[in-house]
This record gives sequence, C-alpha cells and structure tokens, in this order.
Amino acid sequence: MTISTAISANELTSVRQQELLNMLKHDCGSCHGLPPKGGLGPSLMPEALAGKSDALLADAIQNGRAGTAMPPWKSFLTIDETAWLIQQLRTR
Ligand code: HEC
Repeated sequence: MTISTAISANELTSVRQQELLNMLKHDCGSCHGLPPKGGLGPSLMPEALAGKSDALLADAIQNGRAGTAMPPWKSFLTIDETAWLIQQLRTR
C-alpha cells in the first residue's frame, strides 16, 4: 500500500490541520459566523449539527447547495479533510 492511499482523517499533518482550522475561521466564518452560530449560512455549532448525518453535511460541503450561497469546496478539500472538519465542528 502506498502512503497516499493510507491517509485518513486521523492522519492529516498538523500543518494541514492548522490550514483547515484557518479556513473554517476565515472562509466558512464569513457566512456561518465566528464561532459559527449562523449568519448568511445556518449555525454549524454542535447542537445544530446533532441531528444531521455526516453524509448530509459532507455532501453540503463538498458539492455546495445549488440555488443557495453555499459554494462547493471539493476542489479545496478532500473527502478525508471534509470528514475531519465535520469532526471538529461536532466537538467544538
Ligand atoms: C458564501 C457563503 C458561504 C460560505 C463561504 C460557506 N457557506 Fe456553508 N452554507 C451557506 C448557506 C447559505 C447554507 C445553507 C444552504 C441551504 O439553504 O441549504 C450553507 C450550508 C452549509 C452546511 C449544511 C448545513 C445544514 O444544516 O444542512 C454545511 C455543513 C456548511 N454550509 C459548511 C460550510 C463550510 C465547512 C464552509 C467552509 C469550508 C462553508 N460552509 C462556507 C453559505 C456559505
């Protein structure tokens, strides 16, 4: 198995984790607030996400929501990175 296929959400480098947290603050925060209690976009606080599945949230992040301001992030975030971000949002 090559290194790249072994990468998982738990194995992101600390540098990349920091980049993702910055992205959450600056990019996501501009619409979802900081902390992300909601603004133009809905709240991404743990209470707000509790009833929503990882699949639903990952789909919104990867593909955006057509017809809304939520843009697709899949050219910036891998599936593993998206999963890691969701985990961060749920455990804040
Ligand atoms: C330009 C504004 C904007 C930016 C930037 C943005 N969002 Fe959104 N986001 C929205 C809007 C508006 C919605 C609600 C879409 C809808 O009505 O379904 C949304 C929905 C979502 C949802 C689905 C929430 C739910 O309850 O179904 C998630 C998860 C999400 N955004 C995460 C993110 C993340 C993570 C980022 C940064 C990588 C981000 N968003 C950046 C505007 C934005």
